[in-house]
Amino acid sequence: CGIVGYIGHREAYPIVLKGLKRLEYRGYDSAGIALYDGKDIKLSKTKGKVADLEKRLLKEIPTKGTIGIGHTRWATHGVPNDVNSHPHYSNSGNLVMIHNGIIENYDALRKELINRGYTFTSETDTEVLVNLIEDVKTKENVKLGKAVQIALNQTIGAYAIAVFDKQKPDEIVVARLGSPLAIGVGEDEFFIASDASPFIEYTNNAIYLEDGEMAVVRRNKGVKVRSIKDDKLVDPYLQELQINLEQIEKGGYDHFMLKEIYEQPNAISDTYRGRMRVAEGIIKMAGIDDNLAKLLNAKRIIVIACGTSWHAGLVAEYIFEELVRIPVEVEYASEFRYRNPVIHQDDVVIAISQSGETADTMAAIKLAKENGAFVFGVCNVVGSSISRETHAGAYTHAGPEIGVASTKAFTTQITVLSLIALKLAERKGTISNSDFHYYLQELERIPEKVKKTLESNDHIKFIADTYKDAKNFLYLGRGYNFPVALEGALKLKEISYIHAEGYPAAEMKHGPIALIDEQMPVVVIATKKGHYEKVVSNIQEIKSRKGKIIGIVTEGDVTVKELADHVIEIPETEEFLTPLLATIPLQLLSYHIAVMLDKNVDQPRNLAKSVTVE
Ligand code: G6P
Repeated sequence: CGIVGYIGHREAYPIVLKGLKRLEYRGYDSAGIALYDGKDIKLSKTKGKVADLEKRLLKEIPTKGTIGIGHTRWATHGVPNDVNSHPHYSNSGNLVMIHNGIIENYDALRKELINRGYTFTSETDTEVLVNLIEDVKTKENVKLGKAVQIALNQTIGAYAIAVFDKQKPDEIVVARLGSPLAIGVGEDEFFIASDASPFIEYTNNAIYLEDGEMAVVRRNKGVKVRSIKDDKLVDPYLQELQINLEQIEKGGYDHFMLKEIYEQPNAISDTYRGRMRVAEGIIKMAGIDDNLAKLLNAKRIIVIACGTSWHAGLVAEYIFEELVRIPVEVEYASEFRYRNPVIHQDDVVIAISQSGETADTMAAIKLAKENGAFVFGVCNVVGSSISRETHAGAYTHAGPEIGVASTKAFTTQITVLSLIALKLAERKGTISNSDFHYYLQELERIPEKVKKTLESNDHIKFIADTYKDAKNFLYLGRGYNFPVALEGALKLKEISYIHAEGYPAAEMKHGPIALIDEQMPVVVIATKKGHYEKVVSNIQEIKSRKGKIIGIVTEGDVTVKELADHVIEIPETEEFLTPLLATIPLQLLSYHIAVMLDKNVDQPRNLAKSVTVE
């Protein structure tokens, strides 16, 4: 979910509404806004997108007032409908609140409140919390801030909340545990949001609340931060923001996803710029250099991540094992955290996360730390929760990724992980000096080669048109291209809702081959070096079952060209860098199919960009 708030001297409505649009990547099942118009709180909310809210809002409520909050929801408790949408009133109608997260003991709290005469109109945990706050406030006769604090100390779960009281419409109380919350600090005005994007055109200064902190934000007075548990005042750290407006707008592209696919040449060079000096043969990365002994002595590397980041982790497994000769395990964060994993003090855990906020990844990091492992983060969002929780890390520097289907985050994650592997391999002596130099040169050439790959766009569009009505797709690859196959299939399912499976090419004969008939498009990544001959045999197997073959091949390929129905060429590169190129056509293929099927590319149904619930 995304939350936004404003308190100051301007009209809150346009700021909150625009903020919600920027945060829509976090969830778009429903949306709502509450404003104080000088007398009363006016609230409008609806199932659907922020655009639906906008249509409705103008009819329903006067959009005046200098304090307001808004919410865009990714449903957890309660189906997405108007009633379950946020904001939620308390029973008296005095308080209004928005919430991102889950209150796990909401049922017990709800029963208690019902016994005390409270009634509920929605199925949400949020309505329970706002009434709990109201109950504490009246029972103990305390200010809103204190009531929030007492109430939160009775909850189990995760939250970022913002609440205000119509009897005191000059303050908003916010709190965070597990879900992100930033406070934009302007001149006599304050912005509240899940990330800084809603307020970057107003201020460059922000306070990021830490887990377990709350703040009372007062018009004309400022921000007071304290810890929820022990009430201690905290000196807030005012951070200067580095993102700009252009980075979070579409810049002429039809969709963010397409813009982000095309940004990859720059994103990849931004990732290695300043870190890699090719002529001198040096890789400098503070997070690695400062912890070199720890990393070099690792007996094992455990990668934890979710979704696309997990696929980047799989690529890293192949790279690290080959170049650095350290055993690697790649784990879904959600599985790792709940299965009492064996973690040793000489394990190095690498946590990969674009958003740096994924709840399961965060919990897995905490578990690894408790067990004495050294945890290294690979995040895109600067200052994100995971980047702060890890012992050290390296940012991907891909710039904001807005499209829900991850693209440039994936390729920049692989870039960072390659740099780390190369640095460790050089230090460990597991690769020769000349190979090291050659690999650096090759990595430096990747952005040019990505550009070249993007030139196949029209051809890929044609292939998309040919297969857009298929019900199933199979993606196959071996070695470094196996995770690419998984990622290609994920991209297609996410945005076109066509069922797709990624498989190691050789495993096909143990199951998926049964699915192959003339209706089944099979995307085979068959680049040179990557066990090419073996993959060619797999292609023969598909062909003899009449499957339709789309081959991703190295420029100049002859054999696969003869066998396949279509081929997409990518430039030749070092084997371990192939995923950086082979992924690009698969991103474009899924993009075009989704557009042709008239799906919402940037905001696919049921998904969210940043999953801050487990
Ligand atoms: C969500 C997104 C995916 C992403 C995954 C992990 O499911 O829709 O695109 O790969 O979360 O997110 P993270 O921010 O941790 O990389």
